[in-house]
Amino acid sequence: MAVAKLRDSTGFETGFPMSDIQVLERQIRDAIAGAADEAALESVRVSALGKKGAVSELLKTLGSMTPDERREKGALFNALRDRVAEAIAARKTVLEKEVLDARLAFERVDVTLPPRPQAAGTVHPVSQVLDEVTAIFADLGFAVAEGPDVEYDDYNFTKLNIPPDHPARQMHDTFYVAKQADGSRHVLRTHTSPVQVRTMLKQSPPIRIISPGRAYRVDSDATHSPMFHQFEGLVIDEVTHLGHLKWVLEEFCKAFFEVDAVEMRARPSFFPFTEPSVEWDLRCDRSGGQIKFGQGNDWLELAGSGMVHPRVLENCGIDPARYQGYAFGGGIDRLAMLKYAIPDIRSFFESDLRWLRHYGFAALDVPTLDGGLSG
Ligand code: DAH
Repeated sequence: MAVAKLRDSTGFETGFPMSDIQVLERQIRDAIAGAADEAALESVRVSALGKKGAVSELLKTLGSMTPDERREKGALFNALRDRVAEAIAARKTVLEKEVLDARLAFERVDVTLPPRPQAAGTVHPVSQVLDEVTAIFADLGFAVAEGPDVEYDDYNFTKLNIPPDHPARQMHDTFYVAKQADGSRHVLRTHTSPVQVRTMLKQSPPIRIISPGRAYRVDSDATHSPMFHQFEGLVIDEVTHLGHLKWVLEEFCKAFFEVDAVEMRARPSFFPFTEPSVEWDLRCDRSGGQIKFGQGNDWLELAGSGMVHPRVLENCGIDPARYQGYAFGGGIDRLAMLKYAIPDIRSFFESDLRWLRHYGFAALDVPTLDGGLSG
């Protein structure tokens, strides 16, 4: 039989007489074993089993054979093709595993390594205290409510029983925003109390919310900043009274100042939106240059509060014959100054990095009641 000896690019010879089949198979197997990666293996496959591959060329020679010869060699050639295909598949599995192993080794993370010793940023004491206050009231069953910094005059004042000519408006030293098309003026909210209004307008009782946020007044000295932070609390239900209010504030103080007991003193006061109105002081000891709570002979102003004025309930669509409630509000910055011994409120807002490094909190120390409030 005349045999045309062909060589393809990888050097496999095709068109072998029968006796050379084992040689061809060994060559192919050597090439498969020598393929260092999947691309090399693929070119081995093409040169063996591709359209013009060595094995394919061999199969093509069957066409010119006699039926007997074809039966005999056909079986041999096909068996060769199957073995080669199998060997390629096996090598492919090995190579894939090698790639995966290499990648796993490369991307390996040693979880036992210690974390970086120090994060670059710190949490501002105001953010810290906002989170602390929120965590404490959330534990007492209060939901968090929010409102915008730019507020309707109506919500900031009128609905809270402070009509346009009311002298309390002067006390608030309001920042006014440019007149609206309808002649009304928005304000930078002077307190967080308008969130009470917003909540009552969209939610029916029972209501139990806390609303920490920013407030603004034209004022600036060591204890006043034109932008400052307050928290507002509101509870509306069928049976509420001053005793509930006192208990809630006491629980708050104990948790916030991290002491077992506090003593509170009530002083009669006036706020247009509450009747009666009460201001609360906390017994403290300032001797020794440090404040301690629950002992001593000094008193510290804590919060304004009172039973929600029936007119405020009415203004917000709540029936004062059926519902009553209490509200309270206090300064977040002041709480932060007290708890963390920060003397000047203005330093909070100067963005002095040295100050932030000194007074800031670690970024991952989220305050919780069971994990610890202030780390
Ligand atoms: N909004 C008052 C203020 O900024 C604080 C306040 C007093 C809030 C009494 C209240 C309250 O909810 O009942 O001075």
